[in-house]
Amino acid sequence: MAALPAMWRLLGMIALICGNLLTSASAEEWAVPDVDALPMDAFGRTVRVGRDLIVNTAATIGPEASDPAKRFSGNGLECQSCHLDAGTKKFGLPLAGVWGLFPQFISRENEVRTLEDRINGCMERSMNGRMLPPDGPEMKAMLTYIRFISAGFPTGRGAEGRGAPLPLPTAASDPKHGEAVFAETCAVCHQADGQGKRWGPEDAAQRHRYQFPPLWGPDSYNDGAGMARPITAANFIRANMPFGTDYAHPVLSAQDAFDVAVFVDSHPRPHRLGNERDFPDRALKPADATYPPFLGPFPPSQHLTGPWQPIQQWQKENADSLRSNSPAPGD
Ligand code: HEC
Ligand code: HEC
Repeated sequence: MAALPAMWRLLGMIALICGNLLTSASAEEWAVPDVDALPMDAFGRTVRVGRDLIVNTAATIGPEASDPAKRFSGNGLECQSCHLDAGTKKFGLPLAGVWGLFPQFISRENEVRTLEDRINGCMERSMNGRMLPPDGPEMKAMLTYIRFISAGFPTGRGAEGRGAPLPLPTAASDPKHGEAVFAETCAVCHQADGQGKRWGPEDAAQRHRYQFPPLWGPDSYNDGAGMARPITAANFIRANMPFGTDYAHPVLSAQDAFDVAVFVDSHPRPHRLGNERDFPDRALKPADATYPPFLGPFPPSQHLTGPWQPIQQWQKENADSLRSNSPAPGD
């Protein structure tokens, strides 16, 4: 009988060693430099300002900014609401490692875009706001921060934690079941109405408008945002939600993540004018974009719920005619 506890101890030790090996291996490959270790010189101060803009967006360049001329973002979100841990979390839409990837071809505009352009893409969509001046102090600070936290990543190759897309479900995802997942797993923070939880006056020291950000409605991302596409949302949710989840230990099953993403993205949110001009090369329009023009013989609801492969397959087969019927850039 004494052999049994000894065996458990041994197994425990093996698990501990493996766990340590795993942690140190991933810590090595995911090495984000420490902003707080920087000296307080001009560079160090600019990096810190950039981080502050990403963590406290609403208060610095959004609706809570004291100077009305500085209110560029238009909702209650921070960049960090999605780019978790100030953009340093693996699989939390990291900004670490992004510096060396731009300029890059972006299918949404069908042209090569700079990192400034890409940041402004999130300003106009995820933040439901307007563009930052590309040569202004805020953009300069954000670029300096992103460049600093990207130091450990090779130029031209994205970080591994930038995306590992879940295999797509072969059937339509179910927003009804998503509603149940939401009630059980998400509403405790994001609230039953999805409008998040605002800090009250007693939390005046807080620089965030929300303790838990809204997932839909007037203060959330608009319908042209990446997060408004259910495949993108499902991947983010599965790797990161409920808050605190680590991508290596997801809480939701993949199907639950798709169902709840479809549920979240089926709700009204601000409308971005001009969405129909996105993805001028229609062959490259993501199957889960939920705004017109809708391509192919599929009901509009299929872009929201899937199955998405038949749409992707149809786009592949019709790529040439889709391309030649696409509006010219600027149309
Ligand atoms: C509502 C969620 C959300 C918010 C808020 C948000 N973003 Fe994003 N951002 C995304 C998504 C989704 C992507 C696309 C990732 C992809 O292409 O798979 C993205 C992409 C980016 C990229 C390109 C990253 C890459 O890997 O190519 C940059 C840079 C970026 N965002 C900066 C910002 C900045 C700066 C802010 C604040 C001003 C911001 N974002 C706010 C969701 C968000
Ligand atoms: C323990 C609280 C908590 C739970 C539970 C939780 N979230 Fe979140 N969620 C957050 C916080 C906090 C953020 C913003 C991250 C930050 O500011 O650092 C966030 C951000 C988000 C975002 C991006 C920002 C936005 O407002 O759109 C989405 C989407 C999201 N959560 C979806 C979900 C879904 C779906 C679930 C359920 C599966 C869920 N969350 C469960 C706390 C939570």
